[in-house]
Amino acid sequence: MISNITTMMGVKSLKDIDVTGKRVLIRVDFNVPVDSHNNISDDRRIRAALPTINYCIDHNACSITLVSHFGRPKGKYDEKYSLKHIIKRLERLLQKRVEFIEDFVSSRDEIATCSLERVFLLENIRFKEGEKQNDPELSKRLASICDIYVNDAFGTSHRKHASTYGVMDYVDTKVAGFLMMREIEAFSKALENPVHPIALVIGGAKISSKITLLKEVLQKIDKLIIGGAMSNTFLEALGYDMQRSLYEKEYIETACDVIEQAKKNGVKIYLPVDLVITDSIETPVDIKVVPAQDVLEGFQAVDIGPATVKLFSEAIGLSNTIIWNGPMGIYEIDRFSKGTYKIANAIADCYAYTIVGGGDTADAVDKTGEADNFSFISTGGGASLELLEGKILPGFANLDRIEEEL
Ligand code: 3PG
Repeated sequence: MISNITTMMGVKSLKDIDVTGKRVLIRVDFNVPVDSHNNISDDRRIRAALPTINYCIDHNACSITLVSHFGRPKGKYDEKYSLKHIIKRLERLLQKRVEFIEDFVSSRDEIATCSLERVFLLENIRFKEGEKQNDPELSKRLASICDIYVNDAFGTSHRKHASTYGVMDYVDTKVAGFLMMREIEAFSKALENPVHPIALVIGGAKISSKITLLKEVLQKIDKLIIGGAMSNTFLEALGYDMQRSLYEKEYIETACDVIEQAKKNGVKIYLPVDLVITDSIETPVDIKVVPAQDVLEGFQAVDIGPATVKLFSEAIGLSNTIIWNGPMGIYEIDRFSKGTYKIANAIADCYAYTIVGGGDTADAVDKTGEADNFSFISTGGGASLELLEGKILPGFANLDRIEEEL
């Protein structure tokens, strides 16, 4: 039986078509991490899209329109989530002027007019109400400004939105960009014929969207190593009082199910045995390392402790395939970053096939200077977990296929 990964690898890519003289719409994922002043802290996702954009420029596409989301706005304009914050960096990396289009519906004629060498960046597509609902009207409008649709937004390819999925119903030629192809090839190495034991190291603050995937993922892995805010939900599920730590009350039952399912599947679960806790993240007066059972009243967990680093590192060191998704604590703040950085070092030191997924995790790996010591750094967090689950990602599902022409 053909696996879902093989099916996704069978899509056409940019190199299978001719873009000369065509209006190309490229769905990119420029959802980059930024600080409170909107400074980009890691531009990997922008850099990762450059080969596709440059290829279209080099092959004389008549215009290139980039479409992306940024953050999670509520279907209307919100300055904080404007893509104008990234335009300077994009122009610098591309070494080319990029025209910013605030509302592509009213600027449709300008974009639709062929004019060699113009690159447009549309305002955050999630400001449009129909994006997340996969609204056919929005999909048609996007389709109307292009001849060719290129999906290069691997990080968002697990979303069934208008710009990542619906638009493909209304465009004749739709192909994958080079980043999509690179990502799927890297994951096929980890998932098609993996060398066991396989460890999934999971953390980060996006608990609700990840925890529900874990049950499925348990069929593919041998070890589940849980840290960061994700582990708080599991520790609470074990009956520990996590006090003011970030966790999801509504998912405690899901955490219990995951633990049960892991037992049935023979998957080993590793949880923190000690934690770094603080009375305040912004203005800490007290920071302590305590056993995971002893989070003090009014305190919150912000990192894994040294004993947990040891435990996790040993479990990691005995694995042959390691997939890491989500930091072990609030790594953006120096004093709470040790656990995440030490886990980055531990994975980098392994003689294993190692994949890191997700914007924050990739950023953390960069900060340790270990990026070159990983087999592959993915731009996808949630997307890579859904791949691990064995799904065909919507972003690949409706692209043109190579075998259709055989
Ligand atoms: C991500 O950062 O994981 C992607 O850009 C998708 O973002 P989303 O989880 O808000 O859909």
